[in-house]
Amino acid sequence: MFESMQPAPADAILGLIAEHRNDPRPQKVDLGVGVFRTAAGETPVLDVVKTAEQRLVDTQDSKAYIGTAGDPSFNAEMQQLTFADSVDESRLMTIQAPGGSGSLRVAASLILRAREDATVWVSEPTWANHIPLLGGAGLTLKPYPYYDTDKHVIRIDAMLEGLRQAPAGDIVLLHACCHNPSGLDPSEDDWRAIADVIVERELVPFVDMAYQGFATSLNDDAFAVRHLAGLVPEMIVANSCSKNFGLYRDRVGTLSILAADTASRDTVYSQVNNVVRTIYSVPPDHGAVVVSLILNDPELKAAWRIELAEMRGRLREMRVLLNDALKERAPDHDFSHLVRAVGMFCFLGISPEQVMHLKKDFGVYMVDSSRINIAGITAGNVNYLADSIAAVL
Ligand code: LMR
Repeated sequence: MFESMQPAPADAILGLIAEHRNDPRPQKVDLGVGVFRTAAGETPVLDVVKTAEQRLVDTQDSKAYIGTAGDPSFNAEMQQLTFADSVDESRLMTIQAPGGSGSLRVAASLILRAREDATVWVSEPTWANHIPLLGGAGLTLKPYPYYDTDKHVIRIDAMLEGLRQAPAGDIVLLHACCHNPSGLDPSEDDWRAIADVIVERELVPFVDMAYQGFATSLNDDAFAVRHLAGLVPEMIVANSCSKNFGLYRDRVGTLSILAADTASRDTVYSQVNNVVRTIYSVPPDHGAVVVSLILNDPELKAAWRIELAEMRGRLREMRVLLNDALKERAPDHDFSHLVRAVGMFCFLGISPEQVMHLKKDFGVYMVDSSRINIAGITAGNVNYLADSIAAVL
């Protein structure tokens, strides 16, 4: 059966983990996969997560199944964190999902069940795995303009025009904040204009919210979701706790659906749970209980907000540090978009050949598109990094 198979291509992002690990050069720099790193270049378990995990070990008395929707208390807290009071909760449902990707995958099956011929419009560019993940599930995808690769700005007018061409009933995939890969988000006025087109064209927003708290604050980063929720009859939101709780490998996320009314919400809830049963049966528990313990305890929640603000602050500082170092070494080049972008990523704005050159000659790893993970920059490697980049320009 397998003898005629060919190996699958390496993953554009995850493939870099092994490449970097196997590079023996001590000065190598990893700006690839999106994980937070401290000033020492480490990705530690958050202190607040350690505290909650200890509490969990001490108190958990069963590991029996809890069902396809996961932990109700986790779901309620995540729903509140995402939507606050922007919409009547009788129209809203939230289930636990295995990370943001698991949530996107369940949403894809739900969309196919509801509207098999719908197209999902995705930003050009979008997260490298959106297309294989959603397309692989059977959805038809088309791009809408988003990023100007020369000027390093959002093409808001072209985006609005692109969305105006989408037929009523189509789905629009949006990044709630910290757009991956560009790091450039629409302004609040831009979001208002995007929401108006969505309402006018009767499109369904499908929001990927993988970085809440990494751009400005937990509340500000939820602006798009909450603004849309107040306007549209139906919406899909996929959340991830990978980054803001540092629970990457534990696979923690939620899928929320806003329906037109309670009866429709209840129908969708039964369909979503049925989808889950046919894919992975029940979600993993550990990380979700940890998040639930944190969000349900005012002291732990306050400690989490502080750790989150520290991560956000470090990303901002590293953007400035690299931009300054590049200004000195390559004064003819403008890298100011590094500091205009937010969150974990942005494009460096160099060619795939220059990316390859950086990897081969300097041990500097990034995605071929020149997307860099800002968290890979430290005060200790920034000079080497800027020297290397200047050398390939
Ligand atoms: C990334 O974009 O690097 C992260 O979201 C990790 C991943 O799964 O691709």
